[in-house]
Amino acid sequence: MNQKTIELDELAAKLANQLISNTEKSISFLTGAGISASAGIPTFRGKDGLWKNYDVTKFATPEGFRENPELVWEWYAWRQEKIAAAAPTPSHKAISKFEEELSRILNKDVYVITQNVDGLHQRAGSSKVIELHGSIWRIKCTKCSHKASIDKPIDKSSLKCPKCKSWLRPDVVWFGEALDEKVLSKAYEISAQSCIMFVVGTSGIVFPAAYLPIIARSSGALVVDINPEKSGISDIADYFIMSEADKAVPQLLKAILAKIG
Ligand code: OAD
Ligand code: ZN
Repeated sequence: MNQKTIELDELAAKLANQLISNTEKSISFLTGAGISASAGIPTFRGKDGLWKNYDVTKFATPEGFRENPELVWEWYAWRQEKIAAAAPTPSHKAISKFEEELSRILNKDVYVITQNVDGLHQRAGSSKVIELHGSIWRIKCTKCSHKASIDKPIDKSSLKCPKCKSWLRPDVVWFGEALDEKVLSKAYEISAQSCIMFVVGTSGIVFPAAYLPIIARSSGALVVDINPEKSGISDIADYFIMSEADKAVPQLLKAILAKIG
């Protein structure tokens, strides 16, 4: 089948059938920076991506942080400001609505596994969100076990641990660091018991996140990749919708709900 020419309605019918006939399985979304792009939050790669203007080794590695914590915090504070001023996109909202409706109609779980640290899925109302790369809205101590949530951009006067006075850092995963083991095994588990995995707005080249659609597919899921450009997932996906998230996700999810409602 040619992935690119399937009509949205035909695809919605196939997906509705898949989720009705797999009563024990759930639905998952794997999301990346592209889902938040229309909210004005820059992606990492691509022509205006963050990694074009900011050196990864300076801003997103433990070594970079040790070298210049003030500079890294300045960058994170700038990103926090941008994210705080942004609102969830129509795609974030459609996924949250989909969770609500599938729970109501079929008692089926919808999980969101995200590489994003922006918290927009939770702000849109999704309740089962797995944050693979941590959250820009949490801080942790570089020395002791202190961790805390924050609800507004960090205050430059509170960058030291209240318990041990060491540097606080964002609770995100940097290059060269391992993902939280519990978070990762939950993501593997969800992927393996999904009957459909929607992959939205990720370049699909950062591992282990990029393994998840492979796990899902080899466990019997239909994988749908939604991206305006071909991603690392497009070729292994059952369906590739070449589109911006907001032009495809709300419409597709609505069409699926219409078939099962
Ligand atoms: P990337 O910046 O690598 O990729 C963003 C993807 O979104 C690209 O494939 C774009 O084509 C796509 N895109 C752009 N606009 C879009 C739109 N309106 N709708 C849908 N898709 C759109 O971001 P990620 O794949 O999330 O990790 O990057 C993965 C990880 O690499 C990030 O979590 C971060 C980064 O380095 C860490 O910091 C550990
Ligand atoms: Zn401490």
